[in-house]
Amino acid sequence: MIESDGLRVGRSAPDHIRQMRVLISAERLRQRVEELAAQIDADFKDETPVLIGLLKGSFIFLADLCRALTVPHLVDFMAIGAYGGGTSPSGAVRLLKDLSVNITGRSVLIVEDIIDSGLTLAYIRRLLLARQPKRLAIVTLLDKKERRQTDLPIEYVGFEIGAGFVVGYGLDLAERYRHLPDINELELLDEEEMTTSA
Ligand code: IMP
Ligand code: MG
Repeated sequence: MIESDGLRVGRSAPDHIRQMRVLISAERLRQRVEELAAQIDADFKDETPVLIGLLKGSFIFLADLCRALTVPHLVDFMAIGAYGGGTSPSGAVRLLKDLSVNITGRSVLIVEDIIDSGLTLAYIRRLLLARQPKRLAIVTLLDKKERRQTDLPIEYVGFEIGAGFVVGYGLDLAERYRHLPDINELELLDEEEMTTSA
């Protein structure tokens, strides 16, 4: 079992995780979400944007962000899955759940948990732009900027982080750890250590 800063990590963590450490505390997340909401309030004044959460990773960020906003807005979700299980080189994804709101002529704000290569979001962005929204902006809580493989305009970024794998606040490793209140960085065992510890 992993003892990580007293967090509720669970009894049977996968054995390839060596350690977890808090990268961004719940308190810093709360403050930053307030700041992002204030910026979005100002930029979308006089509009009623549709917030589109990309499931599942963004559900906690979206829940906090929408409650920090004062502009009227709608909330909708899209669920996407990668073909095969990996991300395709084009970022093409399978649409598991489409929007229930029509976004043509509306202001839209995509709400994402983390952007890595940027391929998934570039694909979603093209898909949504084809529906001719009045305006389309992106807010991501986390940005692994150095990993970007495509040019992507991102209007709002919570935190720029390094290339390490993070979990918590909605983000998962194989569907685990979404409930952790902080963003935690995982330190994974390398293959040699895994064979010796097996
Ligand atoms: P990309 O930008 O197309 O490479 O993929 C971004 C997606 O990969 C995110 O929406 C997450 O689902 C996932 N992802 C990337 N990095 C992490 C991480 O550190 N923790 C959890 N999920 C991640
Ligand atoms: Mg995601």
